[in-house]
Amino acid sequence: MPFGHEMPPAVTARLQRMKAREVVLSVRGLCKVFDGPDGGTVALQDISFDTHRREFLCVVGPSGCGKSTLVRTLAGLEDSSAGEILVEGSRVSGPGSDRGMVFQNYTLFPWLTVKRNVMFGVEMGGQPRHAAERTALQWLGLIGLERFAESYPHQLSGGMKQRVAIARALAAQPRVLLMDKPFSALDSQTRARMQAYLLEVWRKVPITIVFITHDLDEAVLLADRILVLKPGPGRMQELLEVPLTRPRGADIVESAGFRRTRRHLHALIHSGAGMAPEDDVPLPNIPLLGMADDPVE
Ligand SMILES: Nc1ncnc2c1ncn2[C@@H]1O[C@H](COP(=O)(O)OP(=O)(O)O)[C@@H](O)[C@H]1O
Ligand SMILES: [Mg+2]
Repeated sequence: MPFGHEMPPAVTARLQRMKAREVVLSVRGLCKVFDGPDGGTVALQDISFDTHRREFLCVVGPSGCGKSTLVRTLAGLEDSSAGEILVEGSRVSGPGSDRGMVFQNYTLFPWLTVKRNVMFGVEMGGQPRHAAERTALQWLGLIGLERFAESYPHQLSGGMKQRVAIARALAAQPRVLLMDKPFSALDSQTRARMQAYLLEVWRKVPITIVFITHDLDEAVLLADRILVLKPGPGRMQELLEVPLTRPRGADIVESAGFRRTRRHLHALIHSGAGMAPEDDVPLPNIPLLGMADDPVE
């Protein structure tokens, strides 16, 4: 670990406490192949890691390295081709209420009010209907949106919708919250508020978070550990520990530890060290066909 020796003692102690907690999510030799011509696409190859109770794990890597495939496979929305995923020791074989999900594109039911959306999560968590309303209102209180209980999703801003999506996911009392670039569609000010807000919720709710992002600053700000993937096929490049104390305010980006970690990640991802040889072949000159303002990432 290149900057392990510069880890402040308080952070080392906190990470030790974290690793002493039980493993909630265990990924062992996970592979995912999408069928297709020429043997298909190996999207994930031999991914293994453990995530502990109350850990905040971020996953970063260049476009196409398998981040979304990883989170969808953890969610049980895709089958794995080899290896296994365990949540508290039980093998994942499909979606389940032990894993909550918040994805980039708002996943609220547009025909249900905010309260009913959250009640859906509460009922997923096994609470009977008559108790669900009260619990849903408590969750709306926690996220500061009680006033919008009777509103519909289209009446909310993007950030508010994602707050409701987080509340709905957590209301089902999952063991792991899976998030795939949940804030990337938001403007930068709203995104910063949502990051602070998520850290606040995470402090209050004992949840393990796996958070996919392509934003290195976001990963360093949020994570205890960062899993760096490399493409072609998607493999683990490094699993690094973030040398920053908590709580973390917005000014943490000015700290030496933040900048060092950010630089290290940037070098890993942009050095080309993670590229498979075939990625070195120059790209053909493909006309953009009007896609310039619709980038893949
Ligand atoms: N449903 C699918 N069918 C075939 N190939 C897929 C499918 N989903 C993803 N892939 C391929 O798997 C690789 C990883 O994709 P993805 O997980 O979306 O990466 P990321 O989220 O890191 O950008 C890419 O090569 C992509 O083309
Ligand atoms: Mg993706």
